[in-house]
Amino acid sequence: MPTETVYGLGADAANPAAVAKIFAAKGRPADHPIIVHIPSADHLERWAREIPEAARQLAAAFWPGPLTLILKRQPTVPDAVTGGQDTVGLRVPNHPLALELLHAFDGGIAAPSANRFGRISPTRAEHVREELGDKVVLVLDGGPCGVGIESTIVDLSGAVPRILRPGAITAADIERVLRRDVGGAVNAPAPRVSGSLEAHYAPTTPLRLLPAAELHAAAATALAAGQRCAVLAFRPPEPAAGLVCLAASGDAAEYARDLYAALRRLDHAGVDLILVAMPPDTEYWQAAIDRLRRAACGSGVE
Ligand code: TXA
Ligand code: MG
Repeated sequence: MPTETVYGLGADAANPAAVAKIFAAKGRPADHPIIVHIPSADHLERWAREIPEAARQLAAAFWPGPLTLILKRQPTVPDAVTGGQDTVGLRVPNHPLALELLHAFDGGIAAPSANRFGRISPTRAEHVREELGDKVVLVLDGGPCGVGIESTIVDLSGAVPRILRPGAITAADIERVLRRDVGGAVNAPAPRVSGSLEAHYAPTTPLRLLPAAELHAAAATALAAGQRCAVLAFRPPEPAAGLVCLAASGDAAEYARDLYAALRRLDHAGVDLILVAMPPDTEYWQAAIDRLRRAACGSGVE
């Protein structure tokens, strides 16, 4: 199913046999928890217990939207969904087709990103077909995803709120609503978040992330060594034989929206090496930088 972030591979979250099919289709380890998508914040109590005021505030401010809340779970939530943990991840996606589906279903839909484990998340229906082909029964085509990278994840199950995965909703956005500091946690290790495994969102072609100022020289060196090279840059180099260039948007939201489709195109360009210019190190770019680092780390593996 489409969402505003990435396409999700959905199953009835209350049905462990259905959830097991998600793990089978993705090739994902079965102890990784899956986000449950709900039609509205009115459904929170069905899945979570001891819901803190902060959760209500964030839900009111950002749902439907690209924010996942980790809360203590109701005992009825299947272990297959939570990875056996005492918490559950909940989100109301901001996509008309997803919301229509959720309201019609009137339950929770467990859905990780609809890619094979460790690979680039799909932001268009054709990416899902490419990733999962005949492993899925139906692809709901909701057009290209508007946000383009996965939701921000905030853990509210402990004493202090923690950001487990950066996304379009920034730490500053969350701090503004909660009126407290949640910073500094973005780079903390959070092993139970599969997105926080180092290798993730990765193309099969080796990918190097490098300072924008070094990109042209790195491309020239690679070409001189006989390597074909694909580049994602804010200021692409002059055209040359063996060089494939994509111009990156200087707007963080646009960059995020197009990032995974761009990585997919570069991965399919038949080159030996992908070079990506590092975006500016500011708040709005943190989510894209996070995904690029992981893409670089996990790249080059078939
Ligand atoms: O934007 C998104 O969040 C997309 C769309 C489809 O909603 N979904 C997504 O799912 O990115 P996935 O499975 O690729 O990543 C979900 C992340 C994983 O890193 C998982 O470990 C974490 O959420 N997660 C889910 N439940 C959790 C829990 N109870 N505690 C900690 N992390 C959890
Ligand atoms: Mg994923």
